[in-house]
Parts: sequence; structure tokens; C-alpha cells
Amino acid sequence: MPLVPPDQDSSAGSENSSEQRLRDTVIADFPATVADLTALIRIPSVSWDGFDQSEVARSAEAVAELARSTDIFDSVAIERVPVEEGSDVLGQPAVLAKRSARNNAPTVLLYAHHDVQPQGDSALWESAPFEPTVRGDRLYGRGASDDKAGVITHIAALRAIKEVHGDDIDLGIVLFIEGEEEFGSRSFGNFLATHRDTLDADVIVVADSDNWDTATPALTVSLRGNVTFALTVSTLDHASHSGMFGGAAPDAMLATIKLLSTLWNADGSVAVDGLTRYTGTEAPHYDPERFRAEAALLDGVQPIGGGDLYSQMWFGPAITVTGIDAPSVKNASNTLIPSVTVRVSVRIAPGQEPNGAYHAVRDHLAANAPLGAQLDFADADLGSPFLVDTSGDIFALARRALADGWEADVVEQGIGGSIPFIAQLVETFPEAQILVTGVEDPDTRAHSPNESQHLGVLKRAIVGESFLLHRLAHGE
Ligand code: BES
Ligand code: MN
Ligand code: MN
Repeated sequence: MPLVPPDQDSSAGSENSSEQRLRDTVIADFPATVADLTALIRIPSVSWDGFDQSEVARSAEAVAELARSTDIFDSVAIERVPVEEGSDVLGQPAVLAKRSARNNAPTVLLYAHHDVQPQGDSALWESAPFEPTVRGDRLYGRGASDDKAGVITHIAALRAIKEVHGDDIDLGIVLFIEGEEEFGSRSFGNFLATHRDTLDADVIVVADSDNWDTATPALTVSLRGNVTFALTVSTLDHASHSGMFGGAAPDAMLATIKLLSTLWNADGSVAVDGLTRYTGTEAPHYDPERFRAEAALLDGVQPIGGGDLYSQMWFGPAITVTGIDAPSVKNASNTLIPSVTVRVSVRIAPGQEPNGAYHAVRDHLAANAPLGAQLDFADADLGSPFLVDTSGDIFALARRALADGWEADVVEQGIGGSIPFIAQLVETFPEAQILVTGVEDPDTRAHSPNESQHLGVLKRAIVGESFLLHRLAHGE
């Protein structure tokens, strides 16, 4: 009998051909996939207070319908739980769908979020934020990438698995599509307690992060935590004519500007004692020219800190003032302003605990309050940083599956952003392997005007995830 060369071995051949069929299916279904993404983007599902909450409910309905359309789940439900046990404030609706594992196969939990950030200044959008528009390789719209493309990646990968394998699927599958990630996952702790048994899984795929570039997939292995809060600085009991008392009575804007400026050193680096830096891993080099282009620095503007750029963004702390309540320029009159409120967003390094970081920043501000200004802190939101354990077999399997799906090597990267619920999830399921994938790329502009999804990235991400599910099912 002639020897069969390894690549023509019949079992390897059938594996290859089912992955070829997965790829072909994803490509054939891609126009329908983009149409489904387009329909989701049309729903302005902003989870923040003060936005129309019925839109978040509508997008949960649309996602539940997509989950049902895969014909893969035993159950599909929309679930809301109170933000805390016993509270009458409800969290936003999540979609929770489950197919139980058969024949002792492992269970995989697929996560994404269907809520989006507000549109911001609509004048800065080239096409309306909730009217999805294709220009070149990209589909523009709020949530097009963050994270409605993550939702669609799961749906399309499951459809491909179903088309290729029919009912012959032993893998347990949980789909969990959250409705309040952009609002700090406020009911997540209670959701986890309420639905612990349904969420329990061996592998957790969080499709809510970035890729290295549009041709190169990434697995995110480190995330910063976050501490955000509102700070009100008050100096006067009421406003007065600035010509009457200016120069003697300190206005709140003066106090706020002087106070906030103590948060940074002259080079823009954070000047708060007690905010730490992670030193366990070295970050790769970020070409300064590529950084300037991707981060959109204007000519002559210097990056912060002078150190290595990825190390600053992934492993160091950052403080950003993201909003200010004070009279607008249009309304500026010669008046001493009695109080100013700002929103402060602190990114904290892997290894730092958010409570300690919040106290460090509060202590710093209290110690530096100018001229006896009064400070009030409110509305704090704290989230933990996270480091992924990359040492296991499943991580290696995921690397190979994504590389084969994308036909490019995988980069293990950090991100400066935060997905705080990951730490909570892994605390509850310490044995589970967490895999942070995503559909973003350096030009996505998530949270900003003209957010977009690169359609080639979306297609490759779906193929990669379908390979990952296929190999998890077959224990490769
Ligand atoms: N998808 C992002 C997280 C992210 C940021 C991934 C940057 C890759 C690059 C997520 O939706 C997000 O925006 N998270 C918030 C968390 C906050 C609301 C607690 C963030 O990082 O600001
Ligand atoms: Mn996201
Ligand atoms: Mn986001």
C-alpha cells in the first residue's frame, strides 16, 4: 500500500475541508452579515442615563432575534436584573442564550455588548451616526465596531458552524450580549450571581477589543482598569460681576484650573503619588511616526512622558478630564463663577487595585485644593485592570485558530482601554480560559465621531472565530 503523505491523510483532509467549508460559508453569507450589522447600527442603543432607554430594549430584541435565527440554542432570553440585590433600579437588558454541551464537550461563552456610546457632536460626523454608510472598506456609524460588530461576529460564526455541522454540534455554547458595558456594567455583579449556572463555561471569548492592524489579528493580554468620578469645585455662594469682586474673590474656574493642573507633570505624565506602573512585561516598540498618524497628533505636538509609547498606554496610569460643566463660550459674561463640575477619567495600570487608586487621586486633590476651595466627589465608577493567563493549551489553540482564519500571525497585545467585567467574571470562574479578541483596528475611532468597522477585518474575525469554535469542539 502506498504511503499517504501527511497532508493527504484522510482525517487531516476532512478537517481541512470542514474549515474550508466554514471559510466559504462565511464569505458566501457576508453580504447578509453586513446587512444584519447595518440594521443593528440603526438602533441608537445608548445605555447612559438621560438617553432613550427604549432603544436599548429594542436593540436587545433585535439581538435576541439574531440569536434565534442561528437555530443553535436551546433557549434565548432577554434578562434584566437590579443593579444590586434588592434595589429597584434595573440594569439594562442583556441577551442570554444557551445550548447545553453534549457528550462531555466543553462549553464556550461568547461575549459582546449591544449598547453604544453617545454620538457626541453630530456636526463632526461625515454621515449621520445612526445611518450606517459604507465608504471604501469601512462601514461608518456609532457602534459599527464597538461593539455591534462583536455581536455580529458571534452570530455569523455560529451560523457558519451550524451550516457546516448541522445538528452534530457537541460544544456547549452560551451567548451573553450585555446592554450596559459603556455605562460601567452596573448590574453585572448581580447578573453573575443570578445567572451563574447559565454563564458557567470552560472558555470565555470576549469580542470587544482591538487588532494589531487590518491584516494582523491580536489577542489582547493586558487591559488597564478605570476610575472615573465627578468633581465639583466651589469657592463662592453665588455668582457676581467680575469687575466688582474680581482680583479679590477667587472664582471656581481659577480654583479648578489650578487644581487640575497639579495632576500632571510638565511633560504631561501623571503626578499623583500612589498610581502605579506595571513592570512585569516589556511592551514592544511603537514606531513614533505610526503613533503620530494613528493618534492624529498635530504638527509640533509632543507625546506625553517621553518614554516608550506602548508602555505608557498599556502599563502606565493616565488621567483625562472628559467633561466640564461651566458656562459655554457663547454665554460667557464677565462673571465670577461660583462652582465648576468636571468629570475625571483615570486609567490604572495592571496590578493596581481601583479602590486604592481612587483614594490616591482623592487624597492628591484634597491636599492641593487652592485657596481653601471646597471639593465634592460624586458618581464614582471603578473597574479592575486585567492580565490574561497565556500559558494554557487553549490559549495556544486560539492563537493557531485565529492565525489560520486570518492567514497571518497573531500578535499578543495590551490595550489602554478597560473591560472591567472581565476581572469579575474570572473571579467567579477561575478555571475558565479567557480569550480577548475583537473587531477594532487602529483606525476604528471608537467613542469618537466617524467610528467605523473595517469590513475585511470583520470577515477575517468571523472566519477566525468559526475556526476557534470548530477546534474547541474537536479538541485540537
Ligand atoms: N471596547 C472598549 C474597550 C477597549 C478600548 C478595547 C480600547 C480596545 C481598545 C469598551 O467598550 C470600552 O469602551 N470600555 C470602557 C469601560 C468603561 C465604560 C468602564 C472604557 O475603556 O472606557
Ligand atoms: Mn466595547
Ligand atoms: Mn466602548
